[in-house]
Amino acid sequence: MDGSRPDDFARSPGPVKVRVVRTLDDFQKIVALRALIYMAEQDCPYDEEFDGNDLAGATHLLAEIGGEPVGCMRVRWFCDFAKVERSCVRPDFRSFRIGWVMMDHAIDLIRRKGYRKVLGHAQEHLVGYWERYGLLPRNERDTFVFSDRAYREVLGIFPQREDALHLDVDPLVLDRPEGAWDRPGPLDRSAARGAKSAMPATAKSDKSPSGAAGAGKTGGRAGRGRRETV
Ligand SMILES: CC(C)(COP(=O)(O)OP(=O)(O)OC[C@H]1O[C@@H](n2cnc3c(N)ncnc32)[C@H](O)[C@@H]1OP(=O)(O)O)[C@@H](O)C(=O)NCCC(=O)NCCS
Repeated sequence: MDGSRPDDFARSPGPVKVRVVRTLDDFQKIVALRALIYMAEQDCPYDEEFDGNDLAGATHLLAEIGGEPVGCMRVRWFCDFAKVERSCVRPDFRSFRIGWVMMDHAIDLIRRKGYRKVLGHAQEHLVGYWERYGLLPRNERDTFVFSDRAYREVLGIFPQREDALHLDVDPLVLDRPEGAWDRPGPLDRSAARGAKSAMPATAKSDKSPSGAAGAGKTGGRAGRGRRETV
């Protein structure tokens, strides 16, 4: 994002809290919001709205005001870009910059994970809305249609964050809950208990060069059924 907050940011009906969805209860709130906004307001059919991608490789963000769910969005992860989608705010809560706060969180999360490119499919009349987050129309690409609406691809390319997660980050940091990498998580606490044993005793005692003793008993690799991809 370009860092410029809309001047009327302060007129929000209350502090907006955005979090990564990690519980079924929060997920249920997302479903309720999207049913209300996309299915009821925008007449989107159920199986187009709930398209099979919600539980497969997606991160969801939920916005609440005073404990009431008011908005949500979804981020999906690809090789070198993340895609923001399904962004919506309850009608009564619009124009209070909740959309802005959610997008700010999403772009922050995406960049912290080391991504620089953020892709969106913007409804044609909302291209200007996306532009203020730094996601600009890909003019070389055609408009396309789904769920009875015309869309443009919009793309933001952001500078690499210095604190982006990478391969050599402390392993326990990578194991923390999504988006909460700066505070100890459940595995940090379990690490404090220490290791009970490094290796089971039976594995230590098998010193034969090919592990043939074990293979003889079970018939070895050749004797086993082949695994097939289905
Ligand atoms: C788009 C949406 C998420 C914005 O949420 P929000 O919390 O109201 O967003 P903000 O308060 O941060 O920004 C509002 C601004 O977005 C722009 N905007 C929002 N909806 C717009 C629309 N339908 N047409 C044109 N501009 C729009 C306007 O500039 C508006 O400013 P204004 O309120 O001062 O006129 C919300 O309108 C929504 O849920 N729409 C229905 C779902 C949807 O279409 N999602 C986008 C899919 S691409």
